Formats: sequence, C-alpha cells, structure tokens
Amino acid sequence: MPLGGGTEPRSPRPMSARRMSCGQLKRETMQQPVQVPEIFRRLQQRSENEGGLFWTSPEELCVFEPRAAQEFNRRNFADSTLSDRWIDLLLRRPSPPVTWQELRVAWTDQLRHMVSGAASGQLAQAMASHCESTGERTGDLGNWAQELCGRSLLPLVIDGLSPREAKIAHRDRRLKTEQLLALPGAPRSGLWLSLWTQLRLGQGVRRQLRQRAAGRSPRRHDLADCLVELLPRLGLDRAVDALCSILTAIAGPPGAAATCLLFELSRRPQWRHRLAAELAPLTPIQLAKAPARMAPLTHDFVKESLRLWSLPLLMVRPVLVDMTIGDQQLRAGQRVLLSPYLMHRDAQRWRRAESLEPERWRRPAQADKCPADQEESQETVERARDAKCPMASEPTSKSDHSSPYVPFGWAPRSCLGANLAILQLMLLCRLTTTRYRVLVDQPDKTHVVLGTVPRVLGFEGRVLRR
Ligand code: HEM
Repeated sequence: MPLGGGTEPRSPRPMSARRMSCGQLKRETMQQPVQVPEIFRRLQQRSENEGGLFWTSPEELCVFEPRAAQEFNRRNFADSTLSDRWIDLLLRRPSPPVTWQELRVAWTDQLRHMVSGAASGQLAQAMASHCESTGERTGDLGNWAQELCGRSLLPLVIDGLSPREAKIAHRDRRLKTEQLLALPGAPRSGLWLSLWTQLRLGQGVRRQLRQRAAGRSPRRHDLADCLVELLPRLGLDRAVDALCSILTAIAGPPGAAATCLLFELSRRPQWRHRLAAELAPLTPIQLAKAPARMAPLTHDFVKESLRLWSLPLLMVRPVLVDMTIGDQQLRAGQRVLLSPYLMHRDAQRWRRAESLEPERWRRPAQADKCPADQEESQETVERARDAKCPMASEPTSKSDHSSPYVPFGWAPRSCLGANLAILQLMLLCRLTTTRYRVLVDQPDKTHVVLGTVPRVLGFEGRVLRR
C-alpha cells in the first residue's frame, strides 16, 4: 500500500508549491503516535512546574530553561584544552597545548567549503546510489535511512580508506548505531566486538593521516585533511581520537533524524506534493548554495521535524567547574541533564508544541506571498503576529543565544555538522519526493518509541524508483 494510508496517486503530479491552501494543510495536522516513557512525562511535568531548573538527586540538576542551558554550556566548556598525549603522560612531560576550539575552527572552515562546493554533489550522488542499490529489498526503513546517511557521510569525514578499512568503518558505525537505538532495558551486547572494531578503525585512520603527512597519499577535501597541518603539535594519537569522535557523531544521529523525517513525510501526502514541486527543478548544488532561500518549504519541514524529534532525548553532562546557574550552585563532579527534546515540547514556549507544523517557521514576508484564499489570509495575519513572538519564531539575531530551538545543541560544543545535516535531510526529501517512492507496508502500525533517540517501529516498506 502506498504511503499515507493509500491516498497517494501512483504517479503524483507535482502541483504548485504555493497553490495548496493552509486550510488544506491543516487537515494533515494529526495526533503523534508516540509512546512516551514515564520518566519523560515526569521530567516534563516538573520542568513546567519548576521553571525548567530542578534537582532530580543531590548530584543531578536538570537544566531545561533555554537561557540557563546556554549559560551552563558556555561556562562548562570555556576551557577546551585537549588532554596531553599518552606518550607525554608516560614520560611526565607536557604536550604542546591544542584546544578543541582550534580543531572546530579548522573543521568548520572545511565544512563550509565542502557544503557549498563539490561535496554536496558527491553526497547527493552517494545517497542516490544507495537508493538504487536497495530497491525491492528495503525492509526496515529506519535501517535503510541509517545506511543511506552513514554510508554517504563517511567519505566526507575520511576519504581514501582501503575497501577493508571502509568495511571496518561501516561495521563500527553499525555497532554504535545499534547501541544508540537500543530500547530501554534491552541487554547490551557486543562490547568487546565494539572495542576491537574501534581499535582497528583507529589503525585505518592513523595510516591515512600518516601517509598524507608523509606525502605518500594525496591530500583530500575531507575533514581528516584539516588535521594533517596540525599533526606536529597535535600528535597522531590525539588526531585519531579527534577524528574518531566525528565518526561517532555520524553513527546514529543523522540516520535517526532521517528516519523521523521519512516517518513524518510518509503521513503527509500533501506536504510530499508541495516539497516535490519545490525540489524537482533544483540541482543538489543549487540546494546546497542557499537551502533556506532555494527551498523554503522543505527547509521549514526539516526544521520542524528536527524540533519535534530532537535527539538525543537526554544529554548527561559532567560539571567541570564550580558555577552558579540561575539560583542553583553547581560543584565540579556533579551532573547536569539537558534535553533539546523537552525544550522543544515545552507548551509555555511553543504553540501546539506536540504537533508538526512547518508553517510555524514561515516568516511574514513568505506568508505574504501565500495564495490568497480566505482561510490563508486569516492564517497569514496570525503567522505575522506569531513571527514577532519568541515562542513561535526563530531567534531574531545571531546574538540571541537563548533560543528554545536547539536541535544541534549549544555553543561552544554545538553540532559541527549542522549545515551538512540539514543539507542531507533536504536531499533526502528531494530523493524521496521526486525520484523515488517510499512505500510503507502498514502505515497504521507505525509508531515512535522514545529511547536514547526517537525510534520508529513497524516502519517496514520499500523504496522504489518512480
Ligand atoms: C540530523 C543530524 C544531526 C543531529 C540531530 C546532530 C545533533 C548533535 C547534537 C545535539 C550534538 C551535541 C551538541 C552538544 O553537546 O551541545 C552534536 C554534536 C556533534 N555533531 Fe552532530 N548532529 C547531526 C549530524 C552531524 C553530522 C552530519 C556531523 C558531521 C560532521 C556531526 C558532527 C558532530 C560533532 C563532531 C559533534 C561534537 C561537537 C563538539 O563536541 O564540539 N553531526 N550533534
């Protein structure tokens, strides 16, 4: 049966992205089939009653208030000096100081060039190849999305691995993803296998870096390359650790976000048509150059899906320095719980926080261009008002650091790959609305379960060429 309970025509004719009224779209606002564990309900309740700042034990403070969360991160991670190298620890001498911030600057710069350059085409091509290769055998669409994201991102992080090394890198990614997706209470297995795989992955990364530094391998446009210049100060072991932390960051979160996006798209045929109309004329390069401007509807849909299904659901952060947050004293060694998920569902900050409404991101200028049927004009007025209200809009300036919208965390440790992640999700929308058709076997059995990340269950289906 086609996605969305069989309402989709076999060959959807993309209609004008602007022709559908907001009134029609409202009918796609539906109940979220989600199982929320008791712990989240209790945390959410306490957060609402206690202003987003409360202790769950003498050692653990929940910080769900946007300004406080930003402040905590800023102070906690102010000193980002990396630990000394193993060899220097053994020889009881200090390593040359390198900060994580230095690495972030180098990676951010590289990512900017990559996303606006050839890498976006490479990413789109890799994603399309994955769609081609799976065909009728898709099975669980969550696993499919994980493979699609993980496989296509690997060469952007480190390219030039031998086939054997790439196989190890993918095995490592799958093992990490399995751990991330494990539901609460599920037994943890494969710890030794996981450690062994990480060790072998580290060897592959080490070999690549060493060969590039010695000029035996060509320099490449990937994130590993930024570390080559820094090697004399950084040392190989710290460089390998740093790169492996990016490989961990791409093992799970991009695929989990993609699964939730596919799940939301699968339930909304009208949005699929709108996105298809917007995306069909665009090349991946055009999309990468200015995603929000070239494809505003898709951008809003992706943003809203990330708001509703943010991950990880809870982050535990060790307190590194004594500090005061709000009127609460924190000592080094205690813990802080952060949760973009709960912040994004805070009814005091978001209108209809529990429902997916990409329109909430539309700016007044966009809303003005909305086709003028009666219902739409009413919505336009409401939206223009909402856009001035911090509860419904994006932060108004770059200096507004206390946004309640934080799908990529907080500075100075916010997600490095945020732009790449958004581009990848937009490319996924493009693929699945214009070139491929995602068929869910039993849409009414599909639902989300919350664990470390939101996980879509009963999401079996196929991805076929249109
Ligand atoms: C939709 C996909 C993604 C989501 C939802 C996501 C989300 C996040 C979140 C919430 C954090 C933690 C921020 C914090 O602790 O405050 C993070 C960190 C990180 N992410 Fe992502 N991420 C995604 C994709 C990516 C991609 C594609 C990359 C590849 C470059 C990446 C690289 C990283 C790195 C390296 C960090 C650690 C940053 C640091 O500690 O300084 N992420 N991500």
